[in-house]
Amino acid sequence: MGRSGHACSVLGSLLLLLLLLPGPAAAQKGSAWKTLSGDAPAVIAKGGFSGLFPDSSDPAYLFAASNQDSAQWCDVRLTKDGVGICLPDIKMDNCTTISDLFPKGKKTYRVNGVSMTGWFSVDYNSIDLTNVTLLRAILSRTNRFDGSFTLVQVEVALSQYKAPAWLNVQHDSFYSQFNLSMRSYILSMSKQYTVDYISSPEVSFLKSLVGRVGRKTKLVFRFLDEGLVEPSTNQTYGSMLKNLSSIKTFASGILVPKHYIWPVTADNYLQPSTSVVDDAHKAGLEIYAADFANDFALSYNYSYDPLAEYLRFIDNGAFCVDGLLTDFPITPLEAIGCFSNLNNTKADHGHL
Ligand SMILES: *[C@@H]1O[C@H](CO)[C@@H](O)[C@H](O)[C@H]1NC(C)=O
Ligand SMILES: *[C@@H]1O[C@H](CO)[C@@H](O)[C@H](O)[C@H]1NC(C)=O
Ligand SMILES: *[C@@H]1O[C@H](CO)[C@@H](O)[C@H](O)[C@H]1NC(C)=O
Ligand SMILES: *[C@@H]1O[C@H](CO)[C@@H](O)[C@H](O)[C@H]1NC(C)=O
Ligand SMILES: *[C@@H]1O[C@H](CO)[C@@H](O)[C@H](O)[C@H]1NC(C)=O
Ligand SMILES: *[C@@H]1O[C@H](CO)[C@@H](O)[C@H](O)[C@H]1NC(C)=O
Ligand SMILES: *[C@@H]1O[C@H](CO)[C@@H](O)[C@H](O)[C@H]1NC(C)=O
Repeated sequence: MGRSGHACSVLGSLLLLLLLLPGPAAAQKGSAWKTLSGDAPAVIAKGGFSGLFPDSSDPAYLFAASNQDSAQWCDVRLTKDGVGICLPDIKMDNCTTISDLFPKGKKTYRVNGVSMTGWFSVDYNSIDLTNVTLLRAILSRTNRFDGSFTLVQVEVALSQYKAPAWLNVQHDSFYSQFNLSMRSYILSMSKQYTVDYISSPEVSFLKSLVGRVGRKTKLVFRFLDEGLVEPSTNQTYGSMLKNLSSIKTFASGILVPKHYIWPVTADNYLQPSTSVVDDAHKAGLEIYAADFANDFALSYNYSYDPLAEYLRFIDNGAFCVDGLLTDFPITPLEAIGCFSNLNNTKADHGHL
C-alpha cells in the first residue's frame, strides 16, 4: 500500500513535471496537427449524437455533450411566432409526427426558388407544436426512439447543453417572406448565450452579421453542391470556391461536403485529394468537412472502416481539416485521440 502510494506520487510528480515543462515531446505533439490553428480538429455533432437518437432530440444532445468533447450543431428553423427550434429538415414531416397531428397542414412554398410541399414551421405557433415528437429522418436507423421526444427550442439547447454551440441557418430569405427575421433572432441569441459558430450557405445573411456578433463567434460559409446557385450572388458554389479571398471578407471559415476534399469516382473509388484545404488555409480560412456517418456508403478505399475515412481527412501527412461534422461523434474523437499521429506518438514514448 505504502510502496504503491509512493510509486504513484513519484509518477504523479513526474507527470506534473512533464505537464509543466513544455518539453520536446509536447512541442512535437502540438505541431503534429496541420490545422490552421495547429490545434486538434474540432468534432461537431450534427443534431447531437444523431446516428443513435433522432436528430436534434434532447437525448441526442445530452449524450453528445456529456460523453464527449464535441460541439453541438443545431439547424435553426423559426415558428410563426418567431421561436427558434432545432430540426434537421425544413420539411417538418421528414423528421416529426406533425402530419399526424395536423393532417390538413400540408403546404407548398418556394424555398430558394425551388417549390417544396410538406409541413413548415412558419405555419405553427410554438405552443401548437407542444405535442409534436421527433422521428428518425434516416429510415435504416432504429425506430426505437420514434415519437418519444418533443422538439428542442434553440434557447434550451444554448442554455442547457454544456458544449460549444454551432447554429446553422440554411434558409434566411425563406423566413423573410413570412416577415420573420432570422437575423434578429440569431443576434438576440448570440447576445444572451455563447454561440461559438454560425454557419449559412447564404452570403447576404453572413455579411449582415459581420461586426454584430461577439468576437469569439466564428462565421462559417457553407458550400452546397458545386452546381447549386447561391441565392444572394447568383454564382454557383463551384465558382465561389475559386475565390476564397472574397469569402474571407465575411467569414473565418468554410464548411464543405467531404467530396470537395477527397472526390469519389462514379464507381466509388477515391480520387487524389483536391487542393481545397491548402487553398483555404492560404486564404486564412478554417475548413470544416461535412457528411460523415458510420452507416453512410463509404468509398471502397476505406474498406468499410469509418476510422480510416476520418484519418484521410486529419492525418494524411499533407493536410488536416479544422473540423468534422458527423452523426457519430465518438468515432472521429477516437480517430483524433487514439489513432492519429501514431508515428509522432511513438517518438514520444521513446522519450519517456
Ligand atoms: C428526409 O430527407 C432526407 C434528405 O432529403 C432524405 O434523405 C430522407 O429519406 C427523408 N426521410 C424521410 C423519412 O422522409
Ligand atoms: C397536447 O396533448 C394534450 C393531451 O392529449 C392535450 O390536452 C393538449 O390540448 C394538446 N396540446 C396541443 C397544443 O395540441
Ligand atoms: C409582411 O408585412 C407586410 C408589411 O407589413 C404585409 O403587407 C404582409 O402582408 C406581411 N406578410 C405576411 C406573410 O405576414
Ligand atoms: C439572380 O438571377 C435572377 C434570375 O436570373 C434575377 O431575377 C435576380 O435579379 C438575380 N439576382 C442577383 C443578385 O443578381
Ligand atoms: C475575388 O473577389 C474579390 C472580392 O470580392 C474581387 O475583388 C476579385 O476580383 C475576385 N477575383 C476573381 C478572380 O474573381
Ligand atoms: C483507391 O483505390 C483504387 C483501387 O485500388 C486506387 O487505384 C486509387 O489510387 C485509390 N485512391 C487513393 C486516393 O488512394
Ligand atoms: C508513418 O510511418 C510509416 C512508416 O515509416 C509511413 O509509411 C507512413 O506513411 C507514416 N504515416 C504518416 C501519416 O506520415
